[in-house]
Amino acid sequence: MNELSLYILDIVQNSIKAKSKNIVININEDIQNNILIVEIIDDGIGMSDKTLEKVTDPFFTSRKTRKVGMGIPLFKELCETCLGSFHIESQEGIGTRLTGTFEYDNIDRPPLGDIVETIYILVINDEDIDIVYNHLYNNKKFTFDTKEIKQILDGVSLKQIDVMIWIKDYIREGLQSIKEEEL
Ligand SMILES: Nc1ncnc2c1ncn2[C@@H]1O[C@H](COP(=O)(O)OP(=O)(O)O)[C@@H](O)[C@H]1O
Ligand SMILES: [Mg+2]
Repeated sequence: MNELSLYILDIVQNSIKAKSKNIVININEDIQNNILIVEIIDDGIGMSDKTLEKVTDPFFTSRKTRKVGMGIPLFKELCETCLGSFHIESQEGIGTRLTGTFEYDNIDRPPLGDIVETIYILVINDEDIDIVYNHLYNNKKFTFDTKEIKQILDGVSLKQIDVMIWIKDYIREGLQSIKEEEL
């Protein structure tokens, strides 16, 4: 995988599998400080200390075969390759928080990729899961919160074609607006 958005999709897939109802995706592009932070927080079933240990144990994970996705160990490895750090904390019945940082200009750091598409897919995927997406670009912030959108829609499905188109445009434009050069 050569796009961070695909790693994010893969990590959020864990949150979905863990029956989360609320998922927060924080992306912080702090170019001035040469750091990129990706954080995913969920309120799913969480992990026991034993599972948490396994998830971060490279010996254990290196022996594991995967059919799909890259999983947490590869994300961790990627962070470390990019001279960043990886942190995961989890509590059973409470949820999980995973934070990865990267040196922004590191040669090995994959581009963010199509983050608009990624967020859009997650928003549309399951209307019963609320997503908050916060994207910071230096000191500018864009937030997309499905709870707010649902309130405005007042019962209208997110999966209506016109709503779907609107959501995608809204995320795309929001992201563009924080990345625009200041005049
Ligand atoms: N957000 C999460 N909430 C609860 N359990 C999780 C979460 N993320 C990972 N796990 C646990 O850690 C395991 C390993 O995750 P991962 O490395 O992504 O591999 P995989 O998804 O292929 O099992 C999962 O199978 C699951 O048991
Ligand atoms: Mg996984």
